[in-house]
Amino acid sequence: DWNSGNVIAEQVERIRAQIGSGRVISALSGGVDSAVSTALVHKAVGDQLTAIFVDHGLLRKGEREQVEQDYVASTGVRLITIDARERFLTALAGVSDPEQKRKIIGREFIRTFEEAEKALIAEAEADGEPIRFLVQGTLYPDVVESGGGAGTANIKSHHNVGGLPEDLQFELVEPLRTLFKDEVRAIGRELGLPEAIVGRQPFPGPGLGIRIVGEVTADRLEILRDADAIAREELTRAGLDNEIWQCPVVLLADVRSVGVQGDGRTYGHPIVLRPVSSEDAMTADWTRLPYDVLSRISNRITNEVREVNRVVLDVTSKPPGTIEWE
Ligand code: XMP
Repeated sequence: DWNSGNVIAEQVERIRAQIGSGRVISALSGGVDSAVSTALVHKAVGDQLTAIFVDHGLLRKGEREQVEQDYVASTGVRLITIDARERFLTALAGVSDPEQKRKIIGREFIRTFEEAEKALIAEAEADGEPIRFLVQGTLYPDVVESGGGAGTANIKSHHNVGGLPEDLQFELVEPLRTLFKDEVRAIGRELGLPEAIVGRQPFPGPGLGIRIVGEVTADRLEILRDADAIAREELTRAGLDNEIWQCPVVLLADVRSVGVQGDGRTYGHPIVLRPVSSEDAMTADWTRLPYDVLSRISNRITNEVREVNRVVLDVTSKPPGTIEWE
């Protein structure tokens, strides 16, 4: 019967057989699939692996630190972080259209990753041991969905940050190919990975970039990051993480409304809470959160995030609404 310890031992054997003494790279996203697949490969081949983490500036509060500090501490993975925040902001300047944003974020991610990869390849070749392998956190449902083709780089843009380069000369290492999400989480826990990563709810590759309705700017990201952190903190504190599938927090950056605070009039932005219940994200219903939790989130956001003077609740199912606003 299924046992995460056995699966780990078995995968470690397989990975060693596949990689031998070769070099391997991996892209960490902050999500559970890339975290667990990377940790498995590291367990198997140690420092033959280098992980790359692109900080595109569209992450939520604390996510970079989770990867750089907690994940590295629990795995010992050799990690290179690329600070690409300015690059993404520049590329996104003036863009409001959601699909355009996705395209730009995907493109910039690939370019950033490729540049890092080139530097590593050059370094590895100088050592006489070229990088021949790339880790992918492909799960069983992804394999089934894409027709079960083995070992080719066929990555749906919806699942990753825009997908990885298409002209890959790497052989893929995919230790999660036979597993479902809950099994991957069990393995991650067995490997001692941080709970914030292993238990993370779905979060889109383009990140907060598609949760700002309007242009993405540094100031707006800061507002949204603060509001999102408050909502997540209160939902966790209320013990509701397992009842919701995910709860996008959205900034309506082009909308302003009049408010009053102290004895002053404000003219701020609304924040939308979008808590949903779902089995697979194909359909969803809005989660009936307790009023006292909603009230705490609303009070805290309007008190602690100066530019926000209104919090509204999205009560639309999917269909007709999608889970994200963009
Ligand atoms: P929608 O908004 O289509 O979302 O109902 C369904 C699920 O997919 C996630 N999502 C994305 N994930 N890149 C991703 O990696 C994307 O561009 C993207 N758009 C939506 C969303 O968070 C939800 O879990």
